[in-house]
Amino acid sequence: MTNRKATLRLDDKEYDLPVLRPTIGPDVVDIRKLYGEADVFTFDPGFTSTAACESAITYIDGDKGELLYRGYPIEQLAEKSTHLEVCYLLLYGNLPTADQLADFTARVTRHTMVHEQMHYFFRGFRRDSHPMATMVGVVGAMSSFYHDSLDINDPWQREVAAIRMVAKLPTIAAMAYKYSMGQPFVYPKNSLSYAGNFLNMCFAVPAEEYVVSPILEKAMDRIMMLHADHEQNASTSTVRLAGSSGANPFACIAAGIACLWGPAHGGANQACLEMLKQIGTVDRIPEYIAKAKDKNSGFRLMGFGHRVYKNFDPRAKVMKESADEVLDLLGIHNNPTLQVAKELERIALEDEYFISKKLYPNVDFYSGIILEAMGFPTSMFTPIFAISRTVGWISQWKEMIAEKNQKIGRPRQLYIGPDRRDYVDLRNR
Ligand code: CMC
Repeated sequence: MTNRKATLRLDDKEYDLPVLRPTIGPDVVDIRKLYGEADVFTFDPGFTSTAACESAITYIDGDKGELLYRGYPIEQLAEKSTHLEVCYLLLYGNLPTADQLADFTARVTRHTMVHEQMHYFFRGFRRDSHPMATMVGVVGAMSSFYHDSLDINDPWQREVAAIRMVAKLPTIAAMAYKYSMGQPFVYPKNSLSYAGNFLNMCFAVPAEEYVVSPILEKAMDRIMMLHADHEQNASTSTVRLAGSSGANPFACIAAGIACLWGPAHGGANQACLEMLKQIGTVDRIPEYIAKAKDKNSGFRLMGFGHRVYKNFDPRAKVMKESADEVLDLLGIHNNPTLQVAKELERIALEDEYFISKKLYPNVDFYSGIILEAMGFPTSMFTPIFAISRTVGWISQWKEMIAEKNQKIGRPRQLYIGPDRRDYVDLRNR
């Protein structure tokens, strides 16, 4: 609470509203009692000015272009940390000691296999299913396989569910990919790192040995870290809202995956690479810039713009450097998609439309270029986002469930339908 005080004047009455102070960021006007006292709701579709919860996990300063996980800047973590260390940080609040990290790594590694019966479950999906469609179904179905981690009121079961989720999502995403390719599933290999194991499950085949490239392993680990959490974004809010009713954690994460799939959110990485390829050559960029500026075209520059960032998305900066580095290390020079991306970024950042609306490249702008260079089809981009974000979803879900006064999420509305009216018999209509 701060010394600041907000007062709402409604007709001739005044209502004092407490102002809450965060660790960093803008103060928050507490309107919880407003309806009870003044009989009015507040209206904020899209939550542009509404803090929906308290959280101690991730902080974003959209004007500065800053992203902190538990206080640590994303740039430092991307340079010095690993995805599993970041998972520990997000889940438990502090960087682990060497022993804590070894223990956590062992726990995650030992949970990477999925129940064998789940293999048969995959066969119910059409062979050409999008891997996200398969993932929504299979992750939801985990609640039918892991009955010993469904009781949300038991902290130990919540912990087991969290570890299972972080451990098994890469296995499930790789299985969805293999299924879509008509190739056999590859079991997890515990001698490999988290990222290395995922690459192996995606690209190994029984017919020949697959050796995980350290370059790709590091790049994949970094992609996972950069996507690990992002405050109260749409999919995280979906997980929280689903969880607020007491639904089990597997069902909640399945809901998050469904939300992530949309092109305004995690689906943007697939849409962005497809757009860059459609543009094809730098000379066609002005045509697409003009289309993006034309409201009637319905076209937006994918990988551009963000609800919170009104400056460079710090993840996009790291991703751009990574794209250069990975392509270089892989010996891919003059990649036409990267050339189009860089030129598109340059032109857009000099254009009055994008400058005035503060539209900058976001995390999805460069990630697809790296993932494609690694050998992934575009349909796997969003599943990789889902694997990476799982730890953020589950950390936020755990944080919410552990809150003492946690309530079911229940927004209200501004009703604009018909006024009360009487039923008219069919023959009289
Ligand atoms: N291209 C062209 N114009 C845009 C774009 C874009 N990518 N993004 C926003 N605008 C314009 C929009 O038309 C609007 O103009 P006006 O004020 O004249 O009506 C203005 O900028 C504000 O846009 P908005 O839709 O009100 O902003 P929002 O905060 O609701 O939407 C967004 C944010 C990310 C959904 C949007 O910028 C967008 O659709 N971007 C493309 C999709 C994308 O890259 N999504 C990934 C986001 S980052 C990763 C993630 O969240 O998963």
